[in-house]
Amino acid sequence: MADASGTRTGHAREAAVEAALGTLDLDAKARLLAGQDMWSLPPLPEIGLASLVMSDGPIGVRGVRWTADDPSIALPSPTALAASWDPELARRAGGLLAQEARRKGVHVLLAPTVNLHRSPLGGRHFEAYSEDPYLTGEIGTGYVRGVQDGGVGTTVKHFVANDAETDRFTVDNIVAPRPLRELYLAPFEAIVANAHPWGIMAAYNQVNGSTMTEHHYLQNEVLRGEWGFDGAVVSDWLAARSTVGALLGGLDVAMPGPRTVYGEALAAAVRAGEVTESAVDDAVRRVLLLAARVGILDGAPAAVTGLPAPIDGDALAREIARRSFVLVRNEPRAHGEGAGDEAAGHPALPIDPARTGTVALSGAPARDARILGGGSAVVFPDHVVSPLDGLTAALPDGSLTYSIGADPNEELTDADTGFELTAVCRAADGRLLGTSTVPGGRVQWAGSDLPDGVTHEELHTVELTGTFTPRESGEHTFGTRGLGGFVLTVGGEILFDGTEELGAASDPFEAFFGRPVERARAQLAEGERVTVSLLHTVHKIPDAPIKAVALSLLHLGPRHDPDELIAEAVEAARTAGTAVVVVATTERVESEGFDRVNLTLPGRQDDLVRAVAAVNPNTVVVVNTGSPVELPWREDVAAVLLSWFPGQEGGAALADVLLGAAEPGGRLPTTWPVALADVPVSVTTPADGELHYSEGLFIGYRAWERSGVAPAYPFGHGLGYTGWEYETIAATTDDARVRLRNTGIREGREVVQIYLAPVDDTVERPARWLAGFASVEAGPGETVEVRIPLRRRAFEIWDEESGSWSFVPGTYEVQAGRSVADRRLTSLVDARA
Ligand code: BGC
Repeated sequence: MADASGTRTGHAREAAVEAALGTLDLDAKARLLAGQDMWSLPPLPEIGLASLVMSDGPIGVRGVRWTADDPSIALPSPTALAASWDPELARRAGGLLAQEARRKGVHVLLAPTVNLHRSPLGGRHFEAYSEDPYLTGEIGTGYVRGVQDGGVGTTVKHFVANDAETDRFTVDNIVAPRPLRELYLAPFEAIVANAHPWGIMAAYNQVNGSTMTEHHYLQNEVLRGEWGFDGAVVSDWLAARSTVGALLGGLDVAMPGPRTVYGEALAAAVRAGEVTESAVDDAVRRVLLLAARVGILDGAPAAVTGLPAPIDGDALAREIARRSFVLVRNEPRAHGEGAGDEAAGHPALPIDPARTGTVALSGAPARDARILGGGSAVVFPDHVVSPLDGLTAALPDGSLTYSIGADPNEELTDADTGFELTAVCRAADGRLLGTSTVPGGRVQWAGSDLPDGVTHEELHTVELTGTFTPRESGEHTFGTRGLGGFVLTVGGEILFDGTEELGAASDPFEAFFGRPVERARAQLAEGERVTVSLLHTVHKIPDAPIKAVALSLLHLGPRHDPDELIAEAVEAARTAGTAVVVVATTERVESEGFDRVNLTLPGRQDDLVRAVAAVNPNTVVVVNTGSPVELPWREDVAAVLLSWFPGQEGGAALADVLLGAAEPGGRLPTTWPVALADVPVSVTTPADGELHYSEGLFIGYRAWERSGVAPAYPFGHGLGYTGWEYETIAATTDDARVRLRNTGIREGREVVQIYLAPVDDTVERPARWLAGFASVEAGPGETVEVRIPLRRRAFEIWDEESGSWSFVPGTYEVQAGRSVADRRLTSLVDARA
């Protein structure tokens, strides 16, 4: 357990920090507040301070290399973790990430993301937890505790109101005080109070007219003053805009480096009398405290000394995935045409292959699994278990068929399957500087992360060279991502020779996350290896804030007639006992850097589901997306299981759940709409640079309840493999005690949700809000009782006039249920201040 300040060790740490601070000169102090490169702060050997290393991100620890040759364990997406409704599981996830961070020499994890699901179009929706601030705060608290108990720091991000991607560097989010406090700040406040994070990341965006890295009110007055946050505020990457504004606004560290608004510019500002050295000292003190906590300041006791027991990452990734899957629909099986269906009348899931015959699996993502969302959250695991792998391993031989059915990947993706490539780096005179492996054909070298012998100054060309062995015959498409010159050669023939320039309004991370560009097509034969080369002339931007080389070779296999693909899947499904269809979004749909434009499944996937369901009444659809999508066929299939982005063990977990070795444990952390048009809050595009949060308090289920439109699946919804009867509730303003009984025939786990609904409200508030939750486990027929504490804050609102929290007395219904829409028991409480 990490020790807090105020303890004897805490005092010793503070004394060591003061002593170290006292010996630093202004230049060293200013240097310490700025990245020396993409991921680290400079070491200061004169005070025994090692270089502090940071790394993304929520689902794994990428380390300082942005490529697949430094693999990391990939856990399920944050939406999945939140769907477990289990802060203890989040704590264990954090513990594993701390272990991964230590393995990679990382001291601070750039996570968790606790922005809210304001609109399902938000590009990083998959990377945040929920539309509900309380659930977000609870999961975030567990996560931060887990990471920090492993001796690794966190930067809870992105402070604050970074809930969408459109114009994210400049947008001014206009948010009134009540929603700012009651919704967007609430998870940060809870995590600061309950998990004492050692860092916070200041967001790119502005809030109410001030950019967040300079937001004196929110960073100095609210975060530090009111909440007592004693950690360091780190900028989002390239978010710091001004030297004086940022320092006075409460920003401690400007990342990345080496060119930043701090460092030399900060020392100069002090010398010019624009800021005081004591303001610099305050920031340095906080950075040294962070360094001391993570154990890299000589003489200062680290926050954690005894390390936790080792964690099996693969096993935990699988467990979290199982616990996160949300079964939103599970209708009784019909007599299919499959041989000997003895399970008719039982729910479609779990599948018992001994009684229901064969399984026909379809969907491109069943084979090429989508395990994570795009952007800075990407990590590179050393293996991935796809749904096809998982089911093949779990089902008896001969009982599984697979067909592609529909392939949503209409865009070029990484050159991985079949490619073997090396990057050869040369100087302008052709001299060989160094080489590196390039898994996935992806080069992303930033700062000092370059192959041995290579420097940014000398590097002129990078050639990705090697072979490609197609897994199918036909027309293969090749493309590139990145800026600079490209010459593409396949089988000895030059197919493209040209240059890609940076567009005027592009995101600085365009080369990393930008759209793929098609360059050429070639007819290739299955199994016949061809040589491939992509010669890249590095695009050097003078005075670029980050020195980076980013390029990718991209590929798309032969396109098939979509009708034929569907027909093949239909033929296989027609005679199977159960049809399982996996549908997904693609890397171009859910990613950092841009918002979604619709909620539809790309390509012909909806047609595939409809066609399969038309011939097999026992069709189970697995929805492999990080955030909500429209499921227009949802009432026509037997079961719908949401698997989120399930991480590297997703396919194994899917087999566990589909075949009943484990229950799907998840409940929706966010409302799933029938259609985008129904979504109460969806717009993420600013007008004249401003995005008005004019819906006020009404986002997520708070807004759905007010609009009166029924969603496809409400917040909190999710089925297990057993039934529950809610028997009794007894509530006070302090807690709710709920007794419930497992009415099914197998052991199960239930998430008991408590909503607070004011009766005859005197102030504007949602109809109800989540006030508490807890999980219970019980065997068949067993009764369990759970006590769920209620916080005083659940009865409070932010009073805009007095600028303080205000208890709202009155009568409240304390409602216990299985979702916001499925409330089983109610108890009235009379709340007095
Ligand atoms: C993202 C952050 C991330 C940082 C470093 C930024 O673009 O917004 O979430 O931690 O990059 O990769």
